[in-house]
Amino acid sequence: MSDVDVKDAVREKYSQAALRVRPAGSSCCGSAARDPCNPITSNLYDTSQTGAVPEEAMLASLGCGNPTALAQLKPGETVLDLGSGGGIDVLLSARRVAPTGKAYGLDMTDEMLALARDNQRKAGVENVEFLKGEIENIPMPDNSVDVIISNCVINLSGDKDRVLSEAFRVLKPGGRFAVSDVVTRGEVPTVVRRDMLLWVGCIAGALGDTEYADKLAKAGFASIDIEPTRIYDIEDARAFLTGKGIDVDAIAEQVQGKFMSAFVRAVKPNSIAN
Ligand SMILES: C[S@@+](CC[C@H](N)C(=O)[O-])C[C@H]1O[C@@H](n2cnc3c(N)ncnc32)[C@H](O)[C@@H]1O
Repeated sequence: MSDVDVKDAVREKYSQAALRVRPAGSSCCGSAARDPCNPITSNLYDTSQTGAVPEEAMLASLGCGNPTALAQLKPGETVLDLGSGGGIDVLLSARRVAPTGKAYGLDMTDEMLALARDNQRKAGVENVEFLKGEIENIPMPDNSVDVIISNCVINLSGDKDRVLSEAFRVLKPGGRFAVSDVVTRGEVPTVVRRDMLLWVGCIAGALGDTEYADKLAKAGFASIDIEPTRIYDIEDARAFLTGKGIDVDAIAEQVQGKFMSAFVRAVKPNSIAN
């Protein structure tokens, strides 16, 4: 799997997911972008949050955590969401940093950007901007962002070092990285790692927890912490491996407890050593 193949497959999958929520040429709501039985993407937001955003933003939610509930956001701050999808975390962040702060969403998929902009209009939130671009080449200046959030996107990138160094570049000194992602712990079977469908579903491309921490440190981050928020057992693994041509029972022991959603935190130091 080359990085270009992976990116094309990811774009195609999330374009289709956006169109399920907002069928082409329609302004009304379709079905959910996600499989309601998927243990990774289900039940991530509480009612105080679901009531604060348009229904289509909820239906489009494809994350694996709730970064805005865990990140400390203050009025006046600038937030950037890497891979903002239908915009749920951008809209929730915008309310927290209002009135003087701003929330940016960055996504490479046109259909997701169209859906997110629709959701912004429906939410009537002004301090939001959705940008088209890739998380490997963030279209923002150096030292311009207080908080980077992201929800189940960095695991989709074929060049995670590049994503983390871009995140470091755009954060202000003292800026926070506060991301939900799928991570692995221990060895994961090769049959899982090499499956393209599992890559685009946030599984095959997931980093090991220590590897994630090492990459963050290599990019320059400090105060790195990886906190599991959901650990997936074999029945959960069955839900996301079934239909991918994998004999789940044969690899049950090798996947049990190896996949988790985690909240990944780090800080760009105030003074950077040369
Ligand atoms: C799993 S969905 C998550 C969407 C959103 N964060 C949420 O919680 O609902 C992944 C999103 O990231 C976008 N994406 C994936 N890889 C990307 C990349 N390399 N650059 C920019 N966007 C990317 C996809 O278009 C899709 O909208």
